[in-house]
Amino acid sequence: MKLQKYLQQLGYSRRKADDLAFTGRIMVNNQRIEQPWYEINEGDVVSIDGVDYVVQFETRFEYYVLNKPKGYVSSLSDPKEDKTIGEILRKRNLTNLKPVGRLDKDASGVIILTNDGELINVLTSARYGTERVYKAKVKGKVARAKLEMLKSGIEDEGEFLKCEDAKIVEEQVGYSLVEVKMIKGKKHEVKRLFAHIGNPVVELVRTKYGPIDISIVPNQGDIAKIRGDLLKALLDIKRLAKTL
Ligand code: URA
Repeated sequence: MKLQKYLQQLGYSRRKADDLAFTGRIMVNNQRIEQPWYEINEGDVVSIDGVDYVVQFETRFEYYVLNKPKGYVSSLSDPKEDKTIGEILRKRNLTNLKPVGRLDKDASGVIILTNDGELINVLTSARYGTERVYKAKVKGKVARAKLEMLKSGIEDEGEFLKCEDAKIVEEQVGYSLVEVKMIKGKKHEVKRLFAHIGNPVVELVRTKYGPIDISIVPNQGDIAKIRGDLLKALLDIKRLAKTL
């Protein structure tokens, strides 16, 4: 594989990849390489500004994001459900992909899809604390003191639950819109937190998972390929996890 192609696989644009090589910022097996067309092999060590990557060809890996529509379960198949994200993927010929984590049937929003098992493990592991952001429409007015309580943490069904941050973004008649940041990924965590303070969730949208924002899939059912800087940011999480 050409060095340029490998750098693109890491998430750099073609122009940036050429630029990195031409400006002498790349070493391959301790030798400075200034030709983007240089052939590299699996197992070679490519250093970019002194940061080492052991070459592993990932041409088989693909990364997409889906705005899961409400009413669909986030598993690939479920004998009890007729609407699964597996059905959406089959229609788009993307049957090799798996969802990263889960999202309730009655919720919508960002689900990353990939066949990169290592990335799935890193993103879903509480150990690496990938941030998820939700917009929750909850019943009633939310007292600020109660939001503070959710940030400190609560006990629910024997589990400790907390949000990293929560802020009220809008107050409507009888409802509040709250933006909530989570990092643990426990089952029904946002709903359980707000049920605990007496403001049940009536609508839930995941607007962000790590670096992947809902803005590239604004409508329920939209699917987009993750590329460029976004892909680089996503793969950086995997790389960083390896160093921890
Ligand atoms: N929190 C929930 O309550 N539901 C989800 O689907 C995700 C987070």
